[in-house]
Amino acid sequence: MFKKTPIWFMRQAGRYLPEYREIRKKEKNFLDLCFSPNLAADISIQPIRRFDFDFIILFCDILVIPYALDQDVQFKKDHGPQLNPIYSKKDINYKNLNGNLKKLSAVFDTVSILKHKKKEKKLIGFCGGPFTVMNYMIEGGTSKNHLKIKNFVEKEKKNALDLIKIVTELSIEYLKKQIDNGVDYVQIFESWAGLLEESEYERFIIEPNKEISRKIREYSPKTKIIHFPRGSKEKYVKFLTNVYCDVISIDNNYPQELIPITKEKKIIIQGNLNPIDLMNGGENLVNKTKEILEKFKENDHIFNLSHGVLPGTPIDNVKKVKITVDENERT
Ligand code: CP3
Repeated sequence: MFKKTPIWFMRQAGRYLPEYREIRKKEKNFLDLCFSPNLAADISIQPIRRFDFDFIILFCDILVIPYALDQDVQFKKDHGPQLNPIYSKKDINYKNLNGNLKKLSAVFDTVSILKHKKKEKKLIGFCGGPFTVMNYMIEGGTSKNHLKIKNFVEKEKKNALDLIKIVTELSIEYLKKQIDNGVDYVQIFESWAGLLEESEYERFIIEPNKEISRKIREYSPKTKIIHFPRGSKEKYVKFLTNVYCDVISIDNNYPQELIPITKEKKIIIQGNLNPIDLMNGGENLVNKTKEILEKFKENDHIFNLSHGVLPGTPIDNVKKVKITVDENERT
């Protein structure tokens, strides 16, 4: 059990910090920023300097995996990511995993710099959940209704299973290299887990995430694994009973049975302040923060959001939450 509830925020580096925007103004190409080890390490530490969070998360993006597979990935201002959409594994280049990984070698250098710079803080590496990454590869970017990916998994199952296998394999190797270079935790951001119903959820969410946990535990038992199958609702329970997790990150819509299961299995709960409450601030923010601390006081708990920090979030609100969490006495 933690003596004090640790705290960090998903997307804690990034668009709400003026010091990030300053760097971003100079570097027009977002992926170039992800692949500049000194700058990426500096951005990763920016929120630690300001708020003294307990964890550093590597600055990078989940879409470096399609990039490593030779898919065209661009981040256009105010349009989010844009990928040249693919239709099957024939449209990517995965013949040589080591060759694909080489395209990401700068990320491992960033990890190594962070490891040496901030020894006292725990370092989190990450990748996207395989289904979430595949969603962007097929949709070609952010999508409103996700019709292409839904059609793909329902009507082209073999193609979809072939592709997700490649994304899973490469993601595992990518995480292993992050571990080699010094990350203490890995988080798998399965942001679009909520799109799928029962049988597809089993094949495209549970199976790939289970495979990642299995291979990472085999490779490095001491590395802690954080899973975030966002939007899973009642299927969070199925996820937890099937996929090994040291930490389960939850959003605002999780089933109550989750709490006793995590207690029994000694799984840490991470979450789950609504980013909108963080943005709006005021008395409501302090109350919501205290409610969350109270709700999870009998669990091991890492304070976090239910999704990432929103651009435009006032910095003082972030400070207020940090102070409220630090002042909280664990019983
Ligand atoms: O948490 C952190 O501070 C570490 C860095 C991090 C980024 N992206 C940096 C980023 C992490 C962990 C991610 C994960 C990520 N990226 C996810 C999973 C988490 C989630 O939010 O659901 C997803 C789906 C992506 C894909 C992605 N990257 C989108 C949809 C966008 C555009 C919209 C947005 O939120 O900004 C990005 C760009 C991105 N990734 C930015 C940052 C700081 C902003 C880019 C910019 O400066 O223009």
